[in-house]
Amino acid sequence: MTFDAITPDRVPALLRAMPKAELHIHIEGSLEPELIFRLAQRNGIALPYPSVAALRAAYAFTDLQSFLDVYYAGASVLVCEDDFFDMGMAYFARAAADRVVHAELFFDPQTHTGRGVAFATVIGGLSRACAQATAAYGIDASLIMCFLRHLSEAAAFATLEQALPYRDNFIGVGLDSGERGNPPEKFARVFARCGELGLHRVAHAGEEGPPAYIEAALDVLHAERIDHGVRCTEDPALVARLARDRVPLTVCPLSNVKLCVYPDLAHHPLARLLDAGIRATVNSDDPAYFGGYVSQNFVDAFAALPLTARDAYTLARNGFEASFATDDRKRGWVGQLDAVFA
Ligand code: HPA
Ligand code: ZN
Repeated sequence: MTFDAITPDRVPALLRAMPKAELHIHIEGSLEPELIFRLAQRNGIALPYPSVAALRAAYAFTDLQSFLDVYYAGASVLVCEDDFFDMGMAYFARAAADRVVHAELFFDPQTHTGRGVAFATVIGGLSRACAQATAAYGIDASLIMCFLRHLSEAAAFATLEQALPYRDNFIGVGLDSGERGNPPEKFARVFARCGELGLHRVAHAGEEGPPAYIEAALDVLHAERIDHGVRCTEDPALVARLARDRVPLTVCPLSNVKLCVYPDLAHHPLARLLDAGIRATVNSDDPAYFGGYVSQNFVDAFAALPLTARDAYTLARNGFEASFATDDRKRGWVGQLDAVFA
C-alpha cells in the first residue's frame, strides 16, 4: 500500500467506498422512527409520542440508561415475524449503501420474549433477513444473541434454553444493556455453558463500566472481542495487555458521544487506541438513535481526530480480521480492501 500518496481530501470518499465489516450493531437499534410508526400502525400499538418528529426529539440522551429506556420502548412495536424481517432488511439496505460486506448482528431476544413474543418469531424473521441480505446485496450476515445484563442469570439460562432448537441460526452470544452494577461475573456460568456449546463469546465492557469489567469479560467470560472497551484508557497495564493479545475492540464513536461517554469526537480515544497498537474497529451500535450508520461513524471520527488513510485501511482490515468469518472469506475481503487503496 502507498498511503503517503493519498491526500487528506480523498480520505472521506475512501472511507465511504472501502468494504467494511460491521461487528457491533444492535438490530433493534436500527429501527428508524418512520419504521417504528409504520409498525405501530400495522400492529395497532399506541406509542407515547404523537409524531415521528416528537419521537426523534426524545433522542437527547444523558447516559446509557436514558437511551435504553427509549430503545426498549421503540422495540415494543415488533410483534410478528415480518416485523423482524422488515427491520433487518431496512438495516441491510443502509449497510449495502455503506459498503458493508459482512455483518454480525446483535439481537436482544429477552426484549421481545418478555412481552410475549415467541423466540421463534424473533429468530425466524431475523434469519430470513440475513439470508435475503446475501441474495439481495451480497452481504454475508450472521446473528449474535445478547443477554440483557440487567436481568438475572436464571433469565439468561432460560433464554439460552429457548434458543437451543435454533442453535444453527446464530454464531455466538453477547452481553448488553445497563453495564453499571451488572458485572460480567454475574454471567460466568451462562457463558461457560455457551463455550461448551461451541458458541463465540463477546461482551460489552468498559463503555460506562470500569476497566475491571473489561478484564472480567476476558478472564471470566472468555470474551473473544470486547464491545466498546474504550474505558481501558484509564488503565495503562490493560491497554498494554489488549495490544499484546490483539484483543479486538468494537468501537462506536457516535454512540459514545450521544451517550455522553465523551463530550465530543475530538475527545474520543480512537486514535490513541490505534497508536497503542490495539485492534480497534469502527461500528455504529444503534445507528437510528445515534446519528449515523457505519460510514458516518468513520467520516465524523476522521474529521475530528488525527487519523490518516493508513488508519482507515487498518480499521477496515481490523474489522475483517476480528470477525468470526472463515479465513478464506477474510482473505477475499482484505483483497477487495487492498484494491480500493491501490
Ligand atoms: N450498550 C449497552 N447495551 C446496549 C447498547 C449499548 O451501547 N445498545 C443497545 N443495547
Ligand atoms: Zn452496543
